[in-house]
Amino acid sequence: MRKKLVAGNWKMHGSLQSNAALLEQIRAGVVGLACEVAVFPPYPYLAQTRALLSDSEVAWGGQSLSEYPVGAYTAEVSAAMLLDFGCRYVLVGHSERRALFGETDAVVAAKFAAAQQASLIPVLCVGETLAEREAGLTTSVVSRQLSVIIEAQGVAALASAVVAYEPVWAIGTGVTATPQQAQEVHAAIRRQVAVLDASVAKGLRILYGGSVKPQSAAELFGQVDVDGGLVGGAALVADDFLAICRAAN
Ligand code: PGA
Repeated sequence: MRKKLVAGNWKMHGSLQSNAALLEQIRAGVVGLACEVAVFPPYPYLAQTRALLSDSEVAWGGQSLSEYPVGAYTAEVSAAMLLDFGCRYVLVGHSERRALFGETDAVVAAKFAAAQQASLIPVLCVGETLAEREAGLTTSVVSRQLSVIIEAQGVAALASAVVAYEPVWAIGTGVTATPQQAQEVHAAIRRQVAVLDASVAKGLRILYGGSVKPQSAAELFGQVDVDGGLVGGAALVADDFLAICRAAN
């Protein structure tokens, strides 16, 4: 059985004060839940996150990382630094990184490799734009984004990774994919991996992301190939995030 994971991507939100309240509520609210919960605060707040969550059931991670291990790379943050602050996970290839900051498939693959080299668990984000969906390209886009990683790292690398299917048209728009739309793509992802390695495919956690809300979470997470969620906006409101965590329970 795959353990469900609910991950909160805070993006560029938060302050020492607001984070403290949010982390305390999450920490208390997840006690006894069977699913795994993780938060992804901005880099400067990882120390605060570690301090407030270190003896809790909640994991945390970085929202990105450098593909380079160390050196003259101004403003970059390495995998080892994330590890130093207790990160278990790191997001890789979020669509905002791809679209706004020019991260190509090759860069995403290099970041994925850098994460695994440092024993961080990459959460690989994949997903199509609205234009791509309307052109019938959803499966081919998602499959290409996944293939790049498999070709570079081998399918076995997915045994210690998480995939997040995040249709770009659903991110931050309030438009959630229907449970059927999500299931269809999740199943395609799992089939693509199963062709190469059935046991890796079976164990691979595939999260859905894109306007997950307390009202939509239970039905999404009820799909056979949906193993939890990557939550943006709703992860900033403790009650909403905890309701989503309970929906995965
Ligand atoms: P959203 O963001 O829940 O606000 O749509 C999801 C994400 O970008 O991970």
